Amino acid sequence: MTAALSWLIDDRPGDGVFRVNRAIFREPELFELEMQHIFEGGWVFLGLASQAPAAHDFFTTRAGRVPILVMRDGDGQLRAFVNSCPHKGAQVAQTQQGNSRLHVCPYHSWTFDSAGRNRGIKWQRAGCYTESFDRDGHDLAALPHFAEHAGFLFGSLEPGVPPLAEHLGEAAHFLDLVVGQPEAGIELVPGAVSFTYDANWKLQLENCSDAYHFTSTHPSYIKIMERRQCGEGATAVRSIWEESQAWREDAEGVQGGSYSFDHGHVLNWGRIGDAEAHPLHESADAIRARHGDAGRDWVFNMRNLTIFPNLQIAENASSQLRVIQPLASGRTLMRTWCIAPKGESAAARRQRIRQYEDFFNPSGMATPDDTTAYESCQRGHASPVDPWLQGYARGMMASREGGNPLSDAIGVAPARSVLADSQLCDETLYHAYYREWARRLGPVLEGLRP
Ligand code: FES
Ligand SMILES: [Fe+2]
Repeated sequence: MTAALSWLIDDRPGDGVFRVNRAIFREPELFELEMQHIFEGGWVFLGLASQAPAAHDFFTTRAGRVPILVMRDGDGQLRAFVNSCPHKGAQVAQTQQGNSRLHVCPYHSWTFDSAGRNRGIKWQRAGCYTESFDRDGHDLAALPHFAEHAGFLFGSLEPGVPPLAEHLGEAAHFLDLVVGQPEAGIELVPGAVSFTYDANWKLQLENCSDAYHFTSTHPSYIKIMERRQCGEGATAVRSIWEESQAWREDAEGVQGGSYSFDHGHVLNWGRIGDAEAHPLHESADAIRARHGDAGRDWVFNMRNLTIFPNLQIAENASSQLRVIQPLASGRTLMRTWCIAPKGESAAARRQRIRQYEDFFNPSGMATPDDTTAYESCQRGHASPVDPWLQGYARGMMASREGGNPLSDAIGVAPARSVLADSQLCDETLYHAYYREWARRLGPVLEGLRP
């Protein structure tokens, strides 16, 4: 670790030390560099192919601060563009999604088709343009890179990135298992939710992989679960944990663990097991046929997957897709959806949505607890006294290079792995985030040294 970085990330594996300086969550200059070199300087998740299933369908999103327009053209090909008019920069598509053969810029009515081609410049002939202007291209700017893996769409504003397959690496196997990945693919359940919190984006990045906070931060959720278990309350929500107890007891030993992958992707997981209340229970045989016995077991495990830097998929009693959109060093926009296999039965879909509302929704019993904790941390990050945070040390003695028999069983080769009981609550998987952060920003920070 260079000196320019070592004041932010104290990564000394030989000494058993990994600490992060509070400044990394706080400083606007670092936020600016994160935008340039991570969110606008590499692969980011843009959306699902199923968000634009038909010709001329489109949806809008962001890569860092840059507005993005993903469209399916008349021939069925998906493409991604900067959603900014070449005339003066206005956003050509103004809505989150829709279907349109033509997009008319709301500022001066330049018009573009669903393949991004300019189809009209208002009053062009009367415009006394030069020949040079007429020779110039007027189409929307396509992203230098746009690619799909298993229905997940990624793009990069930076031309010099490795292929998507290399960026995802071994973590791609866990995208293949999301909601059992049926032949028909996966989709967003209608009803997107957006909310903001007043804290840094990396607090959300970490929290998705944070098993340590659950019993401390969510006591009301746990108490309600216990009361339901005693027969109180009338709800369609059922406890997968209770129902799969017998399955877990048969499955011997290990309760969960984590995997870290190159390029900052991580998975933490816990054994839950197949349960009648699980929305995928009806598809267990089809999942086995597609992914094998071991793959089927993995689908029914609790899995929190982060694809660095902005995609998180949390799967337990239901499945949530989260997109992290940083707005400022101390402000973050979250966009969240329930995700589901296409074509699941109405009963399973109903169960999925009820269980989603219960835990994941911002109106549910978990998310407000989490965002309140992030804001509390952010206030604490203002302190320059004893700036080193110690929340990266659990599991350091348990972390192993490479995988283990459970990852071998599905042919996945992570960079590091931890096997854990329910109280280990590994924190070493955050190291993958900060090592990738250091890889991207290290050369820039070095260049800024006086
Ligand atoms: S900014 Fe789009 S037409 Fe002027
Ligand atoms: Fe939480």
